[in-house]
Amino acid sequence: MAMITIVSGKGAPGATTTLAALAAVWPAPALLADCDPAGGDLAPGWLGQWIVDGTIRAEVGLLSHATATRHAVAGDPATLAEHVQAVPPARHVGLLAGLTAPGQHCAVSARGWTRLTVGLAAFKTTTGCPADALVDLGRYGADTPWPLLLAADVVLVAVRPTQRHVLAARPVLAELAERIVPRRLGLVVCATTPAGTREVRAALSRDVAVEVPEDGRAAAVFSDGIDGGTLPRRSPLLRGMRRAARRLHGTYHSYAPAGMRAPASTLLLHGGIR
Ligand SMILES: Nc1ncnc2c1ncn2[C@@H]1O[C@H](COP(=O)(O)OP(=O)(O)OP(=O)(O)O)[C@@H](O)[C@H]1O
Ligand SMILES: [Mg+2]
Repeated sequence: MAMITIVSGKGAPGATTTLAALAAVWPAPALLADCDPAGGDLAPGWLGQWIVDGTIRAEVGLLSHATATRHAVAGDPATLAEHVQAVPPARHVGLLAGLTAPGQHCAVSARGWTRLTVGLAAFKTTTGCPADALVDLGRYGADTPWPLLLAADVVLVAVRPTQRHVLAARPVLAELAERIVPRRLGLVVCATTPAGTREVRAALSRDVAVEVPEDGRAAAVFSDGIDGGTLPRRSPLLRGMRRAARRLHGTYHSYAPAGMRAPASTLLLHGGIR
């Protein structure tokens, strides 16, 4: 099982949108974990319509798991499963809904993040299939849950091909690089073109693991639930994400020996970006 985390600098580059779109086309069971300490956007955004009709409960997720396991010495996937909900437009995806208010991250606490990390790393679907964890960590800062970053197979920093976003990503990458080895640290370039992606890679001297095409219409499905949250299957965004999902999934699932982790450099999109 793989754990893929996305974190960002300032400026809302598109981290949540990218993770939701990746999960929607992931070629295997996936657990979409909304772990943004500032408050989650996945349930009220992409899945807002199912919050309104009561299919998804906003209060069941990250916080309810932390509260229910507060006396546990370790996390476990079976308990985590009680806080994961089905995602109606993508049945292979489970949702760990995020915090509904920023101050709630204090109630999760460092031990709560650690228990969650253990549960995510060994999570299985109700039919016993291992699920890959796709984790939204929001904007990097003092409240960032480091247990998840340290356990992840890869930490991807989301950035757009603009000077503002590149400058915002630089200090984040520098801090992450103090504790995360280069082969586990890469970039997601959001709302980009091939030329934009090349510029970001050159400016930040990091491997680009995922290139997300500029596609405002389809992106608004995943960020804001337009079109009722229905998957924009033929959109440029989902076409690009299908390729990225297959590549990421293949990278981690072809590394069978325990302890072997694929370097971010093996996730590169195509020769032109290297
Ligand atoms: N590939 C894309 N093409 C065009 N627009 C995009 C793309 N990805 C995201 N957007 C748009 O950018 C805005 C911000 O997206 P999103 O909420 O995913 O960013 P974020 O990085 O998660 O922000 P935050 O830091 O607030 O959590 C949204 O309006 C979304 O529709
Ligand atoms: Mg977000």
